Amino acid sequence: MIKVLFVCLGNICRSPMAEFLFKDYLDKLGVLDKFVIESRGTSNWEEGNPVYPGTKEILDKYNIDYSGKTSMQITDEDFIEFDYIIGMDHKNVRNLKDFRNGKYRHKVFQYLEDRDVLDPWYTKDFEATHDDLVSNFDLWYEKIVSEKGLK
Ligand code: 4NP
Repeated sequence: MIKVLFVCLGNICRSPMAEFLFKDYLDKLGVLDKFVIESRGTSNWEEGNPVYPGTKEILDKYNIDYSGKTSMQITDEDFIEFDYIIGMDHKNVRNLKDFRNGKYRHKVFQYLEDRDVLDPWYTKDFEATHDDLVSNFDLWYEKIVSEKGLK
């Protein structure tokens, strides 16, 4: 199994959108059973809260199930379990790389190479965040499968 964790600040907008859209992408490729895909927040600010309405609207629009998802802060166990820990913006990435004095920094990546994923908390534009995410699924899939193989 290849284990991928998407991470943002609150785990209610960007990273759950990435989690459920990427699961849908993998499902359509017929390889979802080779993966564990989850999401977390760097903060505990939204701990236990459901997916934010704007992200729900996007997932509902594409008929993607996110039932039961509530916000969770990332833990040591997550850093140990997951192979790829992918931050949505440079601040998430900095916090993830600094966690436990950099112990897990080799697993941490930024979703987009040259900029932050558009943050709908500020832009209110959940479609633009959706587009940022889906336009890079092929790249992430190819990178991950070329590094790990599909076992
Ligand atoms: P997310 O969005 O990190 O994409 O889930 C946010 C959620 C909460 C806050 C900021 C961004 N906040 O400031 O509480």
